[in-house]
Amino acid sequence: MSSLKGKVVTKDGIEGEEIPQLEFPFPPVPRPKGKFITFEGGEGSGKSTQLKLLGDFLHQRKINNILTKEPGGTEIGQELRRLLVTGDKDKFDAVAECLLYYADRRIHLTNKVWPALNDGVWVLSDRFADSTVAYQYYGYEKKVSLESLNMLYDVTVGDFKPDLTILFDLDPKVGLERSYKKALGMEVKETRFEDRGLEFHNRLREGYLELAAQDEKRFVVLNANKSIEDLHHEVIRVIAERFKI
Ligand SMILES: Nc1ncnc2c1ncn2[C@@H]1O[C@H](COP(=O)(O)OP(=O)(O)O)[C@@H](O)[C@H]1O
Ligand SMILES: [Mg+2]
Repeated sequence: MSSLKGKVVTKDGIEGEEIPQLEFPFPPVPRPKGKFITFEGGEGSGKSTQLKLLGDFLHQRKINNILTKEPGGTEIGQELRRLLVTGDKDKFDAVAECLLYYADRRIHLTNKVWPALNDGVWVLSDRFADSTVAYQYYGYEKKVSLESLNMLYDVTVGDFKPDLTILFDLDPKVGLERSYKKALGMEVKETRFEDRGLEFHNRLREGYLELAAQDEKRFVVLNANKSIEDLHHEVIRVIAERFKI
């Protein structure tokens, strides 16, 4: 018999050899100077575009920051991302999707986000846990329970949460059009969720707005139906106000 906890003695393992204890990194405690800012919203709402602009702005202000994303913020996560956002939309169900997203999230936090925050670096993330509730709960008409999603959050993320979440609110008709247009130039089409259709994306939008209404302290909702430049100025205004920079 083998045991994960102690030294091993066993018939099937190697006698006398110790199984190394897994050391799980924990979230930064107490909270360091680095801020964790997440961008949320539907497909094509401008998250990636605005994230880059904000990163540049913060660098100009001498605020050390990194840009990252979910899924796929780490090398291992890239493999999970490929599974999640490419290919047939029905190749696995919502539960499998949630587990894969949370595996990606855990790796992202332990290997990248938490170490950076502990170094005082600001982390700007293109999507985080709100995406899972919006897509896998609201998008799929609540086929996955909120309780199980909250449980996954507790196990994977614990008490940690973003310092600020900006929700880019946009009519999915506009967003999907932008997103498909962008995908035309991509070798691997990351459109597995786009392919769920307008109804799904309308539910997703409403779900996001509900989430934002439930946590007004953390969320700021921006109307994303503006020029890239105007939206960037809004983002800067929000960041400057919130973090006094
Ligand atoms: N405010 C905007 N107005 C018009 N087009 C935009 C705007 N913001 C982004 N785009 C374009 O729309 C596409 C999707 O933007 P992107 O930032 O990748 O969105 P997301 O990351 O939310 O999916 C890109 O081709 C981008 O250049
Ligand atoms: Mg993007």
